[in-house]
Amino acid sequence: MKIKFPDSFLWGGAVAAHQVEGAWDVDGKGVSIADVMTAGGNGIARKITQGILPNEYYPNHEAIDFYHHYQEDIQLFKELGLKAFRTSIAWSRIFPNGDEEQPNEAGLAYYDQLFDTLLANGIEPVITLSHFEIPYHLYEVYGGFTNKKLIDFFVHYAETVMKRYKHKVKYWMTFNEINNQADGQHDLHTWTNSAVLLEETDNKEEKIFQAGLNELIASAKVVALGKKINPDFQIGCMMAYVPVYPYSCHPDDMMASVKVMDRRFFYSDIHVRGEIPAYAVNDWEKKGYKIQYSQEELDALKEGTVDYVGFSYYMSGAVTTLPETKGAAIPDYPNAKMVNNPYVQASDWGWQIDPVGLRYTLNVVYERYQLPLFIVENGFGAYDKLEDHQIHDPYRIAYLEEHIKQMALAISEDGVDLMGYTPWGIIDIVSFGSGEMEKRYGFIYVDKDNQGNGSLKRLKKDSFAWYQGIIAKNEVSV
Ligand code: BG6
Repeated sequence: MKIKFPDSFLWGGAVAAHQVEGAWDVDGKGVSIADVMTAGGNGIARKITQGILPNEYYPNHEAIDFYHHYQEDIQLFKELGLKAFRTSIAWSRIFPNGDEEQPNEAGLAYYDQLFDTLLANGIEPVITLSHFEIPYHLYEVYGGFTNKKLIDFFVHYAETVMKRYKHKVKYWMTFNEINNQADGQHDLHTWTNSAVLLEETDNKEEKIFQAGLNELIASAKVVALGKKINPDFQIGCMMAYVPVYPYSCHPDDMMASVKVMDRRFFYSDIHVRGEIPAYAVNDWEKKGYKIQYSQEELDALKEGTVDYVGFSYYMSGAVTTLPETKGAAIPDYPNAKMVNNPYVQASDWGWQIDPVGLRYTLNVVYERYQLPLFIVENGFGAYDKLEDHQIHDPYRIAYLEEHIKQMALAISEDGVDLMGYTPWGIIDIVSFGSGEMEKRYGFIYVDKDNQGNGSLKRLKKDSFAWYQGIIAKNEVSV
């Protein structure tokens, strides 16, 4: 059967400023938290350094130099037929330290040119305000988002760019994958979400609930303000959705799955409903957490609920309490541990490939919130081989095609309201998690390796023509 997508469907592509732009210290840009992250590798963690050290390699400093190549890249996006392009504004281009009164005009002018070029080529910008790019100074001086002063700095930054681009950008999102940090246990996530580094002696969970709640308050204030700046703005949240299935039909596995998912839903529950969910209030009370918030902040949460739910989807997971299984223990439910799902395969980086999980996620999230949904990231990170100036990437096409089919089924069979689809890394970029260039997602290859060597030349992969065809037809066969 053939399924048609709505005429208004936003077929696009997604990246983030720090993973593409490079030019890390050009035109007055300040150091961001991404600028102090070294290259790691497949299974090797990136280091977060105190300032920029002379003998370290920081892959985001040059990235793919989109800052100077965007004109030619946008021509390729146009050739693909993109209707939307998702990127972020690098906060430290606009406010180099994050706490200034006056913005950096050169940074603002750069995004004027970028958005003008997109619009002139018929491509709608979809803009994330904070995609792992908090000014480093806000960590050094204020300790990141555990400090309530960052709420005001974020609101000031957002107001500045929303006013400046109010006739150029309609679709906004506040904090990228705000729920990555949910358990507070992973330095990379607390750092990139919140510019927070926790000590072993800290109660990590409590601190990160505080940072996350401060971001949710900041986000709500920005949604309310944005609506005043331009009532036509569509302002969404951005979540990482990794559905965690019960590994068995044992009732404890089902309950463990609910508890694990609550921790992830905590963020979108507040973004969408404007109040702190009962399960969280109950949890904080039981654990004696003193999360700080005022009545004025609770009112702000209510006033600034989002218009749509943007999210990334790459994989699913599974949880079990069965004693005979082995896996990493998690605190959400007694004896719960994360395990591999035997019914799905995984990428070279161990990410479980589960297209039906996308349809499942679309259903669950739409039922939970009844708001339009926007898949703003989905894609397949893989090693590509350059042969005779060609890249044959059938594995990427297969991954994306299966996910697009499930998306189509969610629209046509389940009645989900889906606004668009912007696959991740439309062009090869620096991996967020590993800092590698060779974990490639793009339809456009960039000649650069993990050590930073290469001409930066762009080449179309086989997936380029395939995606062009999907967009042109605006339908799939399932
Ligand atoms: C999401 C992020 O976590 O996944 C992106 O929003 C990131 O910034 C993407 O690049 C893929 O992750 P990775 O580690 O493969 O780059």
